Amino acid sequence: MIKTKAVFIVMIACFINSKLLAQFIHIKTQHNSLIFQVDSNNKLYQTHYGKYINQTQGLEKMTVVFNEAYPSFGNGSSDEVAVMATHSDGTMVTDLFYVSHEQNKQANLQSTVIHLKDEKKDFYVDLHFNAYTAEDVIEQWTTISHKENKEVVLSQYASSAVGFLATNYYLSHFHGSHSKEMMFAEEHLTNGVKTIETKRGVRTTEYENPSFMLSLNGKAKENEGEVIAGALAWTGNFRFAFQLDDKNRCQIISGINPFASDYKLKAKEKLETPRMVLTYSDEGKNRASINLHRWIKKYNLRAGDQARSIVLNSWEGAYFSFDATRLKAMMDGAAEMGVETFVLDDGWFGNKYPRNNARAGLGDWQVNQKKLPAGIEDLIQYAESKGMRFGIWLEPEMVNLRSELAEKHPEWIIQRKNDRSPLLERNQLLLDLSNPKVQEFVFNVIDELLTSHPRIAYVKWDANRHVQNFGSTYLEQDKQSHLFVEYTKGLEKVLERLVKKYSRTIFQACASGGGRVDLASMRYTHEFWASDNTDPYERLFTQWGTNHIYPPIATAAHVTKSPNHQTGRQTSLKFRFDVAMGGRLGMELRPEDMDEEEVKFAKEAIATYKSIRPIIQFGDLYRLLSPYDQNGYAALNYVSENKKEAILITYSLNHHRRYERCFVKMAGLNPDAVYEVEEINKESNKSVIGFDKQLVSGEILMDRGIWVDLRKPLQSAVFQLTETN
Ligand code: GLA
Repeated sequence: MIKTKAVFIVMIACFINSKLLAQFIHIKTQHNSLIFQVDSNNKLYQTHYGKYINQTQGLEKMTVVFNEAYPSFGNGSSDEVAVMATHSDGTMVTDLFYVSHEQNKQANLQSTVIHLKDEKKDFYVDLHFNAYTAEDVIEQWTTISHKENKEVVLSQYASSAVGFLATNYYLSHFHGSHSKEMMFAEEHLTNGVKTIETKRGVRTTEYENPSFMLSLNGKAKENEGEVIAGALAWTGNFRFAFQLDDKNRCQIISGINPFASDYKLKAKEKLETPRMVLTYSDEGKNRASINLHRWIKKYNLRAGDQARSIVLNSWEGAYFSFDATRLKAMMDGAAEMGVETFVLDDGWFGNKYPRNNARAGLGDWQVNQKKLPAGIEDLIQYAESKGMRFGIWLEPEMVNLRSELAEKHPEWIIQRKNDRSPLLERNQLLLDLSNPKVQEFVFNVIDELLTSHPRIAYVKWDANRHVQNFGSTYLEQDKQSHLFVEYTKGLEKVLERLVKKYSRTIFQACASGGGRVDLASMRYTHEFWASDNTDPYERLFTQWGTNHIYPPIATAAHVTKSPNHQTGRQTSLKFRFDVAMGGRLGMELRPEDMDEEEVKFAKEAIATYKSIRPIIQFGDLYRLLSPYDQNGYAALNYVSENKKEAILITYSLNHHRRYERCFVKMAGLNPDAVYEVEEINKESNKSVIGFDKQLVSGEILMDRGIWVDLRKPLQSAVFQLTETN
C-alpha cells in the first residue's frame, strides 16, 4: 500500500512538473548552446541553437516560433521533414513524442541521446549529440528502428534538423566541377527551399560539397557576425535543405539524399544516419573555420597531430609513359630537392591489358612486367636509398571493360541490367561495393599489395567516375533502392578494415581531384587531392573555398610545370611554391625539366617549408584578403596555437597601379606581443615591405595593418613572424 502511494506521488509530481516546469535538454560547449524543450504534450522542440546560454529562465515562452526537433511527415506541418516512413500497414503518418533522454559528460565530450517514439506505432527515433567543449562543435545523428510486423519503408531519414530565427540569412556554399572544385559562393536566402545536394553516388564532392556556412542577421565578415557552419560526414549522396518561411524562420535539414534511395527497414533493424557536424560562431566565419579545423585535426582526420611529408607525385611529370629508369631519375631529382615521399601514380599495372592509357587495365592490379620488370620492390628500395619513402596510386573501386577483371567478374560491375548498354565515364565502370564479395576483393587488392611490399608508406586512392549505371546484381530486386547507401557503407567498411590493419600507411583521398573532400573520407585518410587543376592562380580560389571547412594540413597542393598543363598559364616557380605552401606542399613534375637555378630555388623553398611546416599544418588559418573580392590581392595568415609564431602569405593576382600596395591587416596574433617580421622564400634581395626584420607589435599588425609592394600579376611574398619578448 505504502509503495503504491509513493509511486502515485511520484506520478503526480511528474505530471505537475511537466505541466508547470519546462524540461530543457541543454547540449553545450564552451561558447555554444543547443537547447531542446519537452512541452506539456511531450512534444520535443528545439528552442535555441547559437551562443551559450547560462540562464534559461523564460526560454520556455519562446518556443512558439520553432519547429519540432525532428519533424516527421504527417504531424500536421507542411514543411520539409526529417523523417518520412510508410509503416507496415501502409499508412504514412509519423508523429514523434519524447520518451526519455540520457546525458553524459567526460572530459571534453558531452554526449546526449534523446529517445522519441511514434504516438501509435512501435516506431522509434533516437537523436544523438556529441558536444565537444573546447572546439564548440556538435555532432548530430539519428538511429531509426521499429518493431512493426512487416518492413517499414523510409523515404526520408535525415541526420539533423536545426532551426533559427533571424532578420535575414546569407548562405555560403562550395560548388564546382572537375578542375574547378570548391568555388566559394555566398547568396542571400529568399523564401522557399534552397537545396544543396548530389545524386552522383561516388565522387560526390566534385560539384557541390556537403558543407556550408550560414550567416544570420546580415552577411558575416571573416571576424564579425553570427555564423553556423556545417559539414556532413558521408561520402555518398547528400542533401541539405534550407527552408526559409514567412515567419523568417530558417530550418536546415541535412543528411543522406533520399533521392532514389527508399530504405526498407525490417523489424529490430537499425538505420544509423551519418554525423552532421555543426559549429556556431559569433565572431564571424573565420572562427567557425578554426573551430572545425581544430576539431577535424583532433577527432576526424587520421593522425591530425602528425606532420605531413613533402611528396613528389609522378602524374604530371610522366603520365602513363615511364619505365624504372625514368622513375629513378625523377627520384634522384626529388631527393636532391629535399622531397620526402615519392609517389608512383597511374600506369604501373596490367599485363594482358596494360595500363598505358585510360582505356584499359583498371582492375588488374599486377605490376606491368614490360615497364617495370624488376617490380615495385626495386623502386621502393631505390626511393629508400635516396632517403625517401615510397607511395603508390590505386583506383580499386573501378574497372575498365578491357581488363581481366571485367572478363572474369562481369556480375561485380554496377550496371543498368536488361542488356542496356553501359554508360562509360573515362572509359570505366564501377564495382558494386554493396556486394560483400566485391568489398573483399577491394580490400584484398590493397592488402596483398601492402603485405607483399610492407615498405609502401603511402596510398593514393583515386575514384574517377560517378554511379549512373544504376543497378546491382547483388542487391535483391526489391532492395535496388539501397544501392546508393549500401555502396557508401561498403566503401566505408573496406576503408575501416584497412585503417585498422595499416595504421601507419598514409592514405590520400583523390577522386578526379577534389571529388572526395568530405568528413567521412577524412576519417580514413590523411589528406585529399584538392583539384587536378594545379595552376596556382586557380588553386588560390579552390584552396580558399576548401579551407573554409577543411584544414590546410589535409589539403594536398603541388608545384607543377609552367606553362600549366591545365590552363597554359605561365607563373614563376616562386608563385607556384607560395601557393602550394599554403597547404600540404608537394611537387608534380619531372625534376630533369628544371634548370639549375630552379632546382636551387626549389631546394631552398622546401627547406623553408620544412621549417615553417608546424605553423602551416598545426596552426590556425586566418583569411585576410579574398581572391574573390576582385581587389586583385589575396592574403592568408597562419598562427601557431601559442601565438608566438605566424606566417603571412600575400598574393597579387592582377596588375596594380604604380602607387597601389597590398594593404593587409593580420589576425589572430597576440596584440601585446612584439614580432620580428622577416620576408622568407625570397627570389631576390629586393624587399617588398621596406622594413625587413623590423620589430612590430601584434596590435599594429592587426589594427593598423602593413603594406606589401606587390604590383605585378602573379607575384607573391611570404613573411615569418616570430615573437621576440
Ligand atoms: C585522376 C587524378 C590524378 C591522376 C589521374 C591518373 O585524374 O585526380 O591526380 O592520379 O587520375 O589517372
